[in-house]
Amino acid sequence: MSAIKLQINTKERRYPIFIGSGLITKLSKLLNSCSIKFSKCLLVIDSKVPKTLINKILKSLPKKQTIIHIFNANELNKNQSSVNKILTILLKKNFHRNDCLISIGGGITGDVSGFASSIFKRGIKFINIPTTLLAQVDSSIGGKTGINSIHGKNLIGSFYQPNLVISDINFLKTLPKREIICGYGEILKHSLIANKKFFLFLNKNANKILNLKSPFIEKSIHRSCLIKKRIIEIDEKEKNLRKILNFGHTFAHAYEATLQYSKKLNHGEAVILGIMNASKFSLKNNLLSNDEFKLIKNHLIQFKLLIKLKKKISPNKLNHIVSFMTKDKKNTTKKINLILLKKIGQPILNLNFDNKKLYSFLKKELID
Ligand SMILES: NC(=O)c1ccc[n+]([C@@H]2O[C@H](COP(=O)([O-])OP(=O)(O)OC[C@H]3O[C@@H](n4cnc5c(N)ncnc54)[C@H](O)[C@@H]3O)[C@@H](O)[C@H]2O)c1
Ligand SMILES: [Zn+2]
Repeated sequence: MSAIKLQINTKERRYPIFIGSGLITKLSKLLNSCSIKFSKCLLVIDSKVPKTLINKILKSLPKKQTIIHIFNANELNKNQSSVNKILTILLKKNFHRNDCLISIGGGITGDVSGFASSIFKRGIKFINIPTTLLAQVDSSIGGKTGINSIHGKNLIGSFYQPNLVISDINFLKTLPKREIICGYGEILKHSLIANKKFFLFLNKNANKILNLKSPFIEKSIHRSCLIKKRIIEIDEKEKNLRKILNFGHTFAHAYEATLQYSKKLNHGEAVILGIMNASKFSLKNNLLSNDEFKLIKNHLIQFKLLIKLKKKISPNKLNHIVSFMTKDKKNTTKKINLILLKKIGQPILNLNFDNKKLYSFLKKELID
């Protein structure tokens, strides 16, 4: 077992992230190394995580009372009812604050489980074992938890840091290509908002990363986590700097909400579209140079990352999209707040735009 260890230091909590292959066979050892103790634990497991890997986890956990809850992860189930089911188990089995909830799944399972952990008796121990690329590079770090509402995505939630994150890349072997691309979208986002060198590394090695080739995949996960770590350690509660992690997301969340969170468009696919939109919007507003825009655009095209928005959303839904954008959490006025790029690696915060401007920009995107 070789592992990369990254320590996250927030005001609320300090916790390690371990990245490597075969880590789930050493759970007891990892828990001991972090002095994490509990007498009961609830495993919330994504139904698509292979049984063989779950058995390995069960074998390597300390011999405690372990309860399993299988969760059918999708955006529609990322809701209050799923949280209630978890809370009911914890209550019925008389879990204490010192007991533990372990999430084994992608970003949806992690967000739902983390939220339940944060509100059960005002906070129970929480361990995240992310099983998708997206969760390993993004959602398992930084303590954002939450669920969707009919009014929009992730509108109900909390900041709650886990006690430990274990990213075992063996989980990724059963992940459909579509989901690998989704995770790659968040890796790309991190490079664009923080580090041009990392972007150039991705530009050179994207095929190897998308095919999970070692050491490229480990390096990308590690670099991505490092970028997010640096941002959330400065601004844990998204008062300012952390907003840059939403690059591409104001567009993405609006597409997801317009399509009612259906599997027609995954979060990561929406993010990739959002990256393209936000980069083009940066160009149109004379912020980003044409050369840098082309680098981003060519990257998305060369590695076949983009899907066609107009194939997913009809132009008559334009009002819906813009209306969802006006409900984005970042907005503090009637205007739409966007994270844009000045250069690759240099985002700009706190720019606000009229609905009309976004409407005419998106009209072209949906029709062209
Ligand atoms: N909390 C945060 O900071 C944060 C950051 C980014 C994204 N998110 C959230 O994360 C969610 C997206 O996460 P995701 O892309 O991981 O989606 P997901 O949890 O839906 O997982 C994607 C798909 O992969 C399946 N799956 C999971 N592990 C598998 C495995 N090992 N093998 C085969 N299939 C597997 C799942 O069942 C699902 O069908 C969104 O809801 C988004 O809002 C949260
Ligand atoms: Zn995201």
